[in-house]
Amino acid sequence: MKKKTILSLSLCVAAAVVAFALVGVARAGNGYGHGNGHGHGMGPDQNSESKVKQGFAIAPVPLNLEGKNRAWVGLGSYIVNAQGGCNDCHTCPPFAEGHDPYAGGDGAANAANYLAGGTAFGPFVSRNLTPDASGKPAGLDFTQFLDVIRHGTDDENPGQVLQVMPWPVYRQMTDHDLRAVYEYLSSIPHAEPGCTPPESAAASK
Ligand code: HEC
Repeated sequence: MKKKTILSLSLCVAAAVVAFALVGVARAGNGYGHGNGHGHGMGPDQNSESKVKQGFAIAPVPLNLEGKNRAWVGLGSYIVNAQGGCNDCHTCPPFAEGHDPYAGGDGAANAANYLAGGTAFGPFVSRNLTPDASGKPAGLDFTQFLDVIRHGTDDENPGQVLQVMPWPVYRQMTDHDLRAVYEYLSSIPHAEPGCTPPESAAASK
């Protein structure tokens, strides 16, 4: 390549980087300026509206919206199903039979056991995130849920932190987004795991 071409190429790249950065700034300015987990203020922001819509479109199970904040449920579904990858570890098996995308399937989730846990990672087993009889996801109220995500607090093994769960990443979410995740998990049907973890795993859980 000639020197001149290389120079103009790198100028192009530099311009693209600047343009990208500017878009980023503009987007950031568009975010939920007031959404910080105080229970109000999911504004009519375009970006969040499209996430809410997409969230409802991709939820793999029927949702119980009774007494729930609809926008939070939709956004929570978007975070859980399009970004968080919770299904990979918390649904066992993760995909409906014949739908495994790694084997050519369309990736439809295993709705019957959706987020009910039961996947073994060595001695650690993923927990059931679906609502208990009182409607609390994983049996946690929102304060406890925040504590789990922010600090990795393991209620079943006092004094320890969760060893597999990627809480060091999820804890970077805003209170607002975690509230949305909680609201979504409160709206999914109760389910039981579709796999039985090996004895060794279950025993040391
Ligand atoms: C890499 C696998 C993995 C992913 C991805 C994952 N989890 Fe977990 N999670 C686990 C495992 C395993 C445990 C329990 C044992 C441990 O981590 O030591 C757990 C525990 C939890 C707990 C604690 C429940 C309780 O009763 O104490 C909550 C809540 C939770 N996960 C929520 C989520 C949510 C919400 C997402 C998606 C945003 C998610 N997890 C994604 C593996 C995962």
